[in-house]
Amino acid sequence: MGAIDLYARKTAGFDERLARTVEVLRQAAADFGPGALQSTSLGVEDMVITDLIARHQLPIALATLDTGKLHAQTLALIPRIEQRYGLEVEVFAPVNEQVVHFVRANGEEPMYRSVELRKACCGVRKLEPLARMLTGRTAWITGLRREQSSNRAEVPFREDDGQGRVKVNPLAEWTWADVWHYVQANDVPYNPLHDEFMPSIGCAPCTRAIAVGEDFRSGRWWWEDSSKECGLHATHAEPSAGESESQASPLTFNATTGAPA
Ligand code: ADX
Ligand code: SF4
Repeated sequence: MGAIDLYARKTAGFDERLARTVEVLRQAAADFGPGALQSTSLGVEDMVITDLIARHQLPIALATLDTGKLHAQTLALIPRIEQRYGLEVEVFAPVNEQVVHFVRANGEEPMYRSVELRKACCGVRKLEPLARMLTGRTAWITGLRREQSSNRAEVPFREDDGQGRVKVNPLAEWTWADVWHYVQANDVPYNPLHDEFMPSIGCAPCTRAIAVGEDFRSGRWWWEDSSKECGLHATHAEPSAGESESQASPLTFNATTGAPA
């Protein structure tokens, strides 16, 4: 059984959520013009957004960060997007000398040794190219959803990214069932790794399949007891003073129904 069979479900309010999403995208195109960019990880949420951009012919460019550690199945979506929608995906990769230097100093997979080394790897492979990707842009569009984690429980449609830009999150209020309902209804291309129990897909060494009942993002940086963010996105629901991250209750994810459990 694939992800569509497992998760796609039309629930009350879907049409209204979809209409609000389209309005958020239209408004971003109107307000920011060529300053708006979709930052796509090529994950299923981002594929839904790309489909909406194409369907409504919104003048929003697409870009992705190729960290050099992505799965082949993820990269294969770039030509599929170009074939299906006629939209180019601009690819931003890390600076080769920085990667070579980092690997020489720390090895090919230093991320498992410490959170510091993991964040340093994300710095070289994601944050530096992200800064270049966003140069000259005033707004970036992401696939963040409130349901994804307790860190993201308060994601708004629009926010200040803290770096002088607006971050637009058109799927903020969508559920996992909504995402897959949209994919099914519109035959959206998606990463086949989602059919292998990987709801959230990042770099290959830092992503694994999850089991039924596990947290939505538990397959990301699973060996860490950290907030499981790489620095692309600030935390939206900070644990209150004195409360550690591990005490903050995560949204658990029912892999059978797709609903938060
Ligand atoms: S991450 O911070 O843990 O990596 P996640 O995979 O949940 O993020 O993706 C959240 C959003 O961040 C995506 O919807 C996308 O907008 C953006 N994003 C994440 N990874 C990338 C990437 N490699 N390239 C471009 N955007 C990305
Ligand atoms: Fe490196 Fe993993 Fe971060 Fe990718 S997610 S940049 S491989 S530490």
